[in-house]
Amino acid sequence: MQQVLLTCRQGFESDLAAEIQEKASSCGVFGFVRAKTDAGFVVFEGHQPDDGSKLVKALPFQTLVFARQWLVVAAHLEDLPPADRVGPICEVLRAQPYVDIWMSFPDTNDGKSLSKLTRKLEGPFAKATAKLTRAKAPVHAHVFFESGTNMWVGYTPCDNASPWPLGFPRLRQPSSAPSRSTLKLEEAWLQLIPQAQRAILLKPFQKAVDLGAAPGGWTWQLVQRGMQVTAIDNGPMDKGLMDSGQVAHLREDAFHYKPVRNVDWLVCDMVEKPSRVAELMERWLIQGWTRFAIFNLKLPMKRRWLEVAQILSHMQEALEAAGCSYELKAKQLYHDREEITVFAAPRNR
Ligand SMILES: C[S@@+](CC[C@H](N)C(=O)[O-])C[C@H]1O[C@@H](n2cnc3c(N)ncnc32)[C@H](O)[C@@H]1O
Repeated sequence: MQQVLLTCRQGFESDLAAEIQEKASSCGVFGFVRAKTDAGFVVFEGHQPDDGSKLVKALPFQTLVFARQWLVVAAHLEDLPPADRVGPICEVLRAQPYVDIWMSFPDTNDGKSLSKLTRKLEGPFAKATAKLTRAKAPVHAHVFFESGTNMWVGYTPCDNASPWPLGFPRLRQPSSAPSRSTLKLEEAWLQLIPQAQRAILLKPFQKAVDLGAAPGGWTWQLVQRGMQVTAIDNGPMDKGLMDSGQVAHLREDAFHYKPVRNVDWLVCDMVEKPSRVAELMERWLIQGWTRFAIFNLKLPMKRRWLEVAQILSHMQEALEAAGCSYELKAKQLYHDREEITVFAAPRNR
């Protein structure tokens, strides 16, 4: 299979195209990318007939920043008859067994209107493909609905993809959280920390610092995990959150604040130049003021992949030069807008 379809936040197609082009080349897979503005997905097409399959084997999905999900394309079916969409798709999927069938669509207004159709087709698909599913197959069959009659059919590897078909978990806004951005930190934990490590890395009684904390959505998440939080912000913190007794609020400048004692977690969600935030994070990690960090990098510029690649490689070099072996994982989350979220963790933990 020659093509890989990758989904992203609407408006970030050119960033994802630049990223996948560069990362595919570094894996020895050469090709080009078809990207339509605001489509919510791009298609990488390798020069060789097997390049799509090769790419999803060679490139760890977790290393992609702007991709939400991917599938190796077995067929692109256009003008499907609304009376029988299932038949032609199942014909393609006869080629190999799969665990189950995933259905997805672009995260655009038109795309979202397709969710009803995908739910309607779940039953007929399950019936038509029952004989082809195997619990131990290495792939999910995946049907990506570009529209009601235009579909990309293929496979998503079980061990190298987002665990969620659309590429993000569905989260509910907690009623007592002070801001909607609380969901960014909750999603960051789910997306960037492997499930087996979450309970080990996020524990009650840990100490945390939240830079740019007000009104307290991120602090709220830390408090829910039983942590003691120092919240740094000149703005006011939510009163209910302060009543928890787990938060100390300091009205200080985050760029000048130094913790009295080292902490377990640093989180940071300031609207600032991304290179400035990255430098601040470097300082905390190199000084050993924190073990783990999660921070946002705002990306108001045009060539966002270029900016991200430069900042992350500069940060990695600075950490290594200081003798700090850190892994940096970056992702544009569903709850991120013009920004990405980064998780920094020591390699030997
Ligand atoms: C996007 S808001 C943070 C929202 C917060 N994460 C939440 O979930 O409620 C950014 C915050 O950073 C604060 N901020 C910006 N620059 C700062 C600085 N130099 N020092 C401290 N706080 C700063 C702002 O006052 C603002 O409250």
